[in-house]
Amino acid sequence: MSLKNWDNKTWLSSKKYIRSFNNFLLKQIRLNRDSQILDIGCGRGKILGFLCSSLRLKNKPVGIDIENHKDRDKRINFKKIDAIKYLKNNNQKFDLILIKQTIHLMNFREIKKLISLCKTKLKKDGKILIFSLETSKNEIPTFLLMKKRLINSLNRDKKIILFLSKLYPNIKKKKFSFRVKISTKKYMEMIRNRYISTLLSMSSNQILRGIDEINSSYQKILNFNDKLICLILNK
Ligand SMILES: C[S@@+](CC[C@H](N)C(=O)[O-])C[C@H]1O[C@@H](n2cnc3c(N)ncnc32)[C@H](O)[C@@H]1O
Repeated sequence: MSLKNWDNKTWLSSKKYIRSFNNFLLKQIRLNRDSQILDIGCGRGKILGFLCSSLRLKNKPVGIDIENHKDRDKRINFKKIDAIKYLKNNNQKFDLILIKQTIHLMNFREIKKLISLCKTKLKKDGKILIFSLETSKNEIPTFLLMKKRLINSLNRDKKIILFLSKLYPNIKKKKFSFRVKISTKKYMEMIRNRYISTLLSMSSNQILRGIDEINSSYQKILNFNDKLICLILNK
């Protein structure tokens, strides 16, 4: 099962989130109209689309994903391809390579290969920005089984971060946080749509029981911080 509903009408595709995320991005790297940008695992490409408009990019930013969404942003140059395959067969260089909430879907060998290939595709002052869920004090609302799976996944993320920090000792770490306010009803719908990878392997019954659990254990409105770790790598 694939991640089709990640940013399907959730806070992750809201204008407020995209604006706030892009403001954070632009604090980490100086970009202008001439910048060349690549987003690996771009999903619907909303982040790139916003960057394209706000920077008035001369060249459409490139977004790659193994999933092709019908409602993807039209301001991007989209390629439906696996990240490593794309990087191996392309000589274009970029000022920014963004990898947001995608690296955890790969194994360690693929991650090592991916980042070393990305490094060769950077322009002189280019940067790779890798985002993944904050591994400690994560506030994502969960039901019991989801929590167990999320903890396992976050423990693996910790190992990925350590692995990359050892491979690249100059890596920098920053934090991004977004305040989410959403009705429990809407959130239950997101769970039903398996919006996050920890839900993908659950049975329909497990999801239904989880939704009941969320319904009875949370208030009508959910308030929490969606927190990300940002790893920054230079050429
Ligand atoms: C959790 S979503 C994140 C989407 C987007 N970056 C965001 O943060 O809104 C992960 C995305 O990575 C894509 N993906 C997973 N493995 C990939 C690979 N090997 N190459 C390219 N894209 C991949 C998935 O299809 C999915 O759209």
